[in-house]
Amino acid sequence: MSRIPLIAGNWKMYKTGPEAVETARKLASLCSDIHGVEIMIAPTFLSLPLVAASVEGTPVKIGAQNLHFEKQGAFTGEVSADMIKATGAEYVIIGHSERRQYFGETDALVCKKIKSAIRAGLKPVLCVGETETQRDEEKTILVLDKQVSDGLKGCGLDELKDLILAYEPVWAIGTGKSASVDQVQQVHTYLRSLLEQLFSSEFSSQTRILYGGSVKPENVKALMGIEDVDGALVGGASLDAGTFIKIIEYNR
Ligand code: 13P
Repeated sequence: MSRIPLIAGNWKMYKTGPEAVETARKLASLCSDIHGVEIMIAPTFLSLPLVAASVEGTPVKIGAQNLHFEKQGAFTGEVSADMIKATGAEYVIIGHSERRQYFGETDALVCKKIKSAIRAGLKPVLCVGETETQRDEEKTILVLDKQVSDGLKGCGLDELKDLILAYEPVWAIGTGKSASVDQVQQVHTYLRSLLEQLFSSEFSSQTRILYGGSVKPENVKALMGIEDVDGALVGGASLDAGTFIKIIEYNR
């Protein structure tokens, strides 16, 4: 089963609109002859329409970093899936550990967001990952099991065809300390078997599982060489087009 790798950049709360457009344009010009890998960047909500327009017709695809699960309504400060879709975005990151940690997102909320993204025709990137304490206490599998099972609770197989899973160990995010090849291999193998157990073996073998957490040009080749790793979700190293392209070109 061939799964086209996805290299995604999560720009978090960095870059004004003009800065985001400048980086996106630069990136698009650098990836004009990239094949066999999908490329996505997720700027802030404010930059979404600007960036989407600036990379239209290039291999660079666009994603949002979050959404509100309602279609519309009196939810001051929030943005719905339909609104994101209307900008030209294709993807949406859901349940990032920073949302769970700083904004109190629970698995139940994550699940509502996943369903809302699917309804609007966005491809959800569900983020899961354990904290350092949870790993030390050997609770990694338990934590991931709950995040995936509860995050996808009640979703039908037909709804999940565009789902992407991203394993991002919290202790590896922004720390410069990526998980080791062995650690990543172990978790990704487990996640694939969990998808099989929860849904089906066909679904499990079709679903892309990304790794995120201190991915850099120096370690990307080793990480992408791991069986069951189908791409990367990159934070810091995606902010500079020249650095990010080196990650995208990991196979060259
Ligand atoms: P870093 O690549 O900066 O560790 O961030 C990873 C991340 O959180 C991507 O969503």
